[in-house]
Amino acid sequence: MDLYLDTASIKEIEEIASWGILDGVTTNPTLMSKEKGDYRKILRRICDIVQGPVSAEVIATDHEGMVVEAKDLAKISEHIVIKIPCTVEGIRATRRLSTDGIRVNMTLVFSLNQALLAAKAGASYISPFVGRLDDRGEEGLRLIEDIVTLIHNYDFPTRIIFASVRHPYHVREAALIGADIATIPYKVFKLLITHPLTDLGLERFLSDWKKR
Ligand code: G3P
Repeated sequence: MDLYLDTASIKEIEEIASWGILDGVTTNPTLMSKEKGDYRKILRRICDIVQGPVSAEVIATDHEGMVVEAKDLAKISEHIVIKIPCTVEGIRATRRLSTDGIRVNMTLVFSLNQALLAAKAGASYISPFVGRLDDRGEEGLRLIEDIVTLIHNYDFPTRIIFASVRHPYHVREAALIGADIATIPYKVFKLLITHPLTDLGLERFLSDWKKR
């Protein structure tokens, strides 16, 4: 399973990338709005650090505008993947962009039927937002299970990004269900490696070693 960081913070990306296991990054307008500076420069820097897929989202809501914006964003780096919202206009834009060889990450996916249409439109990635469904008392994990089945049933080349991760349990479930990718907020990413028994065990090993 590939692990992406869900952030636009250069500091966070540099830190996690230094672990040597970061495969990509996803951003969105909310995450970009938290960062100071020119967004194109920020995206270019993220691509340089990660050297893997970096999702950048369009702001336009009509398909013509989405395509223009997407083509402009794609010029930033070969690593840029265009995030397009899952609407009728988004599906139309995705069809056009995928035909032109521009990779799309269809975002704001909340149902199996949306995922089906995104895959048919040629999206390279689809991002079901698990946490936001869970927040409403709906079954986010069930949606991922269903989309995994859909993609396998029809052999779509689309990759599934487990998005809107809230806690380490989501990452565990993503791996067990067979999502291709989990995109994880910085705070949750750091929690993936920690366990109190690891810390205690290491402390004991080191103190025993000193007594030899
Ligand atoms: O990648 C999707 C993600 O940014 C949405 O997460 O936490 O805003 O639901 P959240």
